[in-house]
Amino acid sequence: MNRADFFLAQLDEDSPVKDYIRELWALSLDKLKSMADDACKNTYGDEVYLRGLIEYTNVCRMDCLYCGIRKSNDKVNRYRLDEDSILAAVEEGYGRGFRTFVLQGGEDPEWPAERLARLVAKIKELCNYEVAVTLSSGLMTKDDYVILRDAGADRYLMRFETADSKLHERLRGGISLRRRIQALLDMRDAGFELGSGFMCGLPGEDDEVMLKNLYLCKLLELDMIGIGPFIPHPDTPLKDAPQLGLERTLKAEAILRIILPGANLPATTAAGSLQPDGRERMLECGANVLMPNLTPVIHKKDYLLYPGKICLDEDGFKCVSCLSLRVASVGKKIVWDIGTSKNYKERNGHVSRT
Ligand code: 5AD
Ligand code: FES
Repeated sequence: MNRADFFLAQLDEDSPVKDYIRELWALSLDKLKSMADDACKNTYGDEVYLRGLIEYTNVCRMDCLYCGIRKSNDKVNRYRLDEDSILAAVEEGYGRGFRTFVLQGGEDPEWPAERLARLVAKIKELCNYEVAVTLSSGLMTKDDYVILRDAGADRYLMRFETADSKLHERLRGGISLRRRIQALLDMRDAGFELGSGFMCGLPGEDDEVMLKNLYLCKLLELDMIGIGPFIPHPDTPLKDAPQLGLERTLKAEAILRIILPGANLPATTAAGSLQPDGRERMLECGANVLMPNLTPVIHKKDYLLYPGKICLDEDGFKCVSCLSLRVASVGKKIVWDIGTSKNYKERNGHVSRT
């Protein structure tokens, strides 16, 4: 059996781990929060890592029903940053102490793996090989991932979005969950620190689907997991879907910290957009990463995956002082470390290429 099929088959089967996740899901948010906080303190103490996010293109060949920059949304003002603007943002970030940059974009045909690889190599050189580069550029071939890894990219983020095969295909224009899982396995084979995750509260997601979301993260032994509330975008087919509260996301976050104590978990912008203190609530439920948005301010408003996104008029570096206060309010502190995930370090015998 193919490895992706093996994961899919396991997802549907009962197992002690799945039973444990089911038991956790039945607990109250308060209880989960205190368990997750203990687990987080054990692995990451009170430290919160920063990642500088650069949204380098909002052009996307995909048409996911939930996403504000889907191909069919012709209201979007499309942009692509060129190499010089990306390097300028990185240089400033590096000067101010950032040691991880996340390049996130749509699946843009003008940014094939070879071009991204050249950019990654330049970023590494510019930052004296002292930074980690994370890519979040969607689905590519196995060979593409190897090219990117060889160029020096350290981490790859690609959420599976939902672990329910039927829902996945319906929301993602017929692309299968199996293909998504295959790509994640390809990334791991290429040697990346592996990140994925899902949205919480998608229409059609019941508790069983949520259980599968959590279980898939565990089966994949992810190094980084980004989750956030689904927020309906008015210019997408899901515009009339109900908006669920943040509690579902917070419970899921806490369970992830309990079952994957060594993973890096960001307190996501979507959580902060749904609720003013959403990121702080996530930090209290086990999150240990924040991702200030270093995209040039003129373009920020054009990368609206969901409405109500925060900090659109803010220079990303201003966010850092705001975030320090927010982090302090929940008894944690920002550290300027490269912040490799403990899972990854253990799997790779503490060998880091950066
Ligand atoms: N609401 C919340 N999150 C969304 N994303 C895409 N569209 C939405 C939305 N409407 C998330 C997806 C994607 C990540 C970059 O943003 O999970 O992987
Ligand atoms: Fe951006 Fe507070 S995090 S202004």
